[in-house]
Amino acid sequence: MVSEFCPAASYAVISDSTVGPRYAERLTQALSAAAPCRLLTFPAGEGHKTRETWSNLIDQLLEAELGRDGAIVAVGGGVVGDVAGFVAATYLRGIRYVQVPTTLLAMIDSSIGGKTGIDTEIGKNLVGAFHQPTLVVADVATLASLPIKQLAAGVAEAVKHGAIADADYVTSISANAREILARNPAAMADLVRRSVEIKAGVVAADEHEQGQRAVLNFGHTVGHAVEAASGYELLHGEAVALGMVVEAALGSTLGITKAGTAGALESVLQQFDLPTQLPEAWSAERILQAMRHDKKNRAGSIRVTLLHSLGEVANSGAGEWTHAVDEAAVHHALSPGF
Ligand SMILES: NC(=O)c1ccc[n+]([C@@H]2O[C@H](COP(=O)([O-])OP(=O)(O)OC[C@H]3O[C@@H](n4cnc5c(N)ncnc54)[C@H](O)[C@@H]3O)[C@@H](O)[C@H]2O)c1
Ligand SMILES: [Zn+2]
Repeated sequence: MVSEFCPAASYAVISDSTVGPRYAERLTQALSAAAPCRLLTFPAGEGHKTRETWSNLIDQLLEAELGRDGAIVAVGGGVVGDVAGFVAATYLRGIRYVQVPTTLLAMIDSSIGGKTGIDTEIGKNLVGAFHQPTLVVADVATLASLPIKQLAAGVAEAVKHGAIADADYVTSISANAREILARNPAAMADLVRRSVEIKAGVVAADEHEQGQRAVLNFGHTVGHAVEAASGYELLHGEAVALGMVVEAALGSTLGITKAGTAGALESVLQQFDLPTQLPEAWSAERILQAMRHDKKNRAGSIRVTLLHSLGEVANSGAGEWTHAVDEAAVHHALSPGF
């Protein structure tokens, strides 16, 4: 598939220490039949989505003399996809690359849309580039080995796709929860197909995030803050699950989101053991502080993507997809027992 749709003079497969031995070695061997192919790996985990990993990979490609007619193949989760994509975006001013996502989150979210990048000490994803992959190949069979918490975190983003674009999709995720948790291949393929359709549709309308792409941030203003406040103990998707419930409640308080939306989201997310309530020990103030640092805030205000109802985002008018909300309302929605 890779050599057919992205033919190249040579390939560099980039993976991490977990996915490398499990899947990338085999792919490297298979691709070698088509063109010279080497495997580069780095240690797994968000902690390695760094400048150091990026520059090590670039140096290895330079030493191997990969040319502009070469291509990179990213095999792994979102961390591998983001780093390898950024290597492809910057190496020799940009070469082609293929995404082979192996987590549910990477299949339905990070491999689609062309955002690549790395983290810095100041924050996540602050250095990067838009660089579209030539091809994305998702093999749902790889999900069999994915830890259940990682699988559920991916489901949270699928629920988000339903929440912003298709209420029936949320219903079907709930109805098929058992098959999804068992990684039934047909159920996984349905999930990946529908989520990719929704995400790709949004991205195609606004590739460089000028406006409409902000609908994909539903659950993320609160989610990012919760993720940071947890010291990154919570997985991104777990934080987004909680963030969606809080943002739906917030929207209802403001009279923008139909009553009952937060409850509907909560019940499907709970089927996957995803967190939907702020732990008692966490004060609303702690989350608000993290929110004030959100890089997407403009002119000091907190901006949130709000739903009109399940399946439909509330447009705030004049091409704006986010709403400025005051801290008191956010504080209220974050308060225990709300
Ligand atoms: N570019 C984008 O648009 C975009 C969108 C969303 C998220 N992201 C980024 O994606 C990253 C998160 O991605 P992720 O959740 O895939 O995390 P990840 O890449 O860290 O993968 C999670 C863990 O699972 C392991 N793993 C991957 N596939 C496996 C498999 N099939 N079997 C067993 N283990 C496997 C990995 O080695 C890793 O330890 C974050 O850095 C986030 O910023 C990017
Ligand atoms: Zn997300």
